[in-house]
Amino acid sequence: MKPVTLITGASSGIGAELARAFAAHGHELVLVARRADRLNALADDIAKAGHPRPQVLASDLEQRDAVAKIAAQLQLLELEPNFVVNNAGFGLMGDAATLDRDEQLGMIDLNVRALTELSLTFVDSLSRHRGGLLNVASIAAFLPGPGMAVYYATKAYVLSFTEALHQEWAGRGIKVSALCPGPVPTEFQARASMELPGAAKMIELPPDRVAQIGYDGLMRGQRVVVAGLGNKIAASFMRFAPHALLLRAVDQRTGAGKDR
Ligand SMILES: NC(=O)c1ccc[n+]([C@@H]2O[C@H](COP(=O)([O-])OP(=O)(O)OC[C@H]3O[C@@H](n4cnc5c(N)ncnc54)[C@H](OP(=O)(O)O)[C@@H]3O)[C@@H](O)[C@H]2O)c1
Repeated sequence: MKPVTLITGASSGIGAELARAFAAHGHELVLVARRADRLNALADDIAKAGHPRPQVLASDLEQRDAVAKIAAQLQLLELEPNFVVNNAGFGLMGDAATLDRDEQLGMIDLNVRALTELSLTFVDSLSRHRGGLLNVASIAAFLPGPGMAVYYATKAYVLSFTEALHQEWAGRGIKVSALCPGPVPTEFQARASMELPGAAKMIELPPDRVAQIGYDGLMRGQRVVVAGLGNKIAASFMRFAPHALLLRAVDQRTGAGKDR
C-alpha cells in the first residue's frame, strides 16, 4: 500500500492551500470534497508544478457512509494514509433557534462526526508510517459563540478531541495537531452568511500563510497551532477572560434578534 496524505475540504480556501503545502513538501495526496471539478483543477495545478497528480475523491462528508466509502476506495487504489488533514467545515451565522435545524445538524455531521471518524479510521496506517493528524479547529474553539453557537461548539469539540489524541497517540509515533486559524478570507464567509468585521482585518491572514503555519506546526509536533501573533494574543485573552464579559462582546448577531 502506498502512503498518501488525505486532505478534506481541498476544493477551496485553506484546504486547497494545505494541499499545495503538503505537495510542495513531497507528499502524495488524496483530495476530498464535494466539488470534483474544483479538486481536479487543483490536482492539475499541482501536477503542472512538477508533483505527482493527486487522486480526487468526490464525497459529501455529511453522509453517514462517506468515510467507509473513502476507506474502501483507498483500499481499491492500494493507498493508505500516512497523514490525515481534517479541514472540511462550515459555519452559519444567526440565532440558533431560528437557523435551519437540519443545516445546523449537518454542520455537526461534517465538523464533528466526519472529522472524528476520519481521525480514528486510519490510526493503524498513521502509526505504521509514523505520520500525523492535522485537525482544523479555529480560535472560535476557545469560547462560546452567540450568533454562531453551533459552529463555535463544534470547534471547541475539535480542539478538545485533538488535544486528547495528541496525548493518547504520542506512544504510537503519530504527530497530532489542532490548527486554530483566526479570520481568513475564503468562501467560508459567504457560506456562513457573514462578512468579516473591520476589526478582523488587523488579525486576518491569507489562506496560504495559514496552511504553511499548520504544516510547520504539525511537523514540529505542536499540540495547538494558533495561526499568527494577533490570533495568539486573542486566543490567550479568550481563554482567560471571564465568559460573562466576553459573551456580549462576541455576539455577532445584528438586528432585532440580538438579546442584549
Ligand atoms: N475562513 C476562516 O475565517 C476560518 C477561520 C477559522 C477556521 N476555519 C476553518 O477552516 C476550515 C476550512 O475553511 P475555509 O475557510 O477554507 O472555507 P471554504 O473556503 O468554504 O472551504 C471549505 C471546504 O470544506 C468543503 N466542504 C464543505 N462541506 C462539505 C461536505 N459536506 N463534504 C465534504 N467537503 C465539504 C468545501 O468543499 P465542497 O463545497 O466542494 O464540498 C471546501 O473545500 C473549516 O473547518 C473552517 O471552519 C476557517
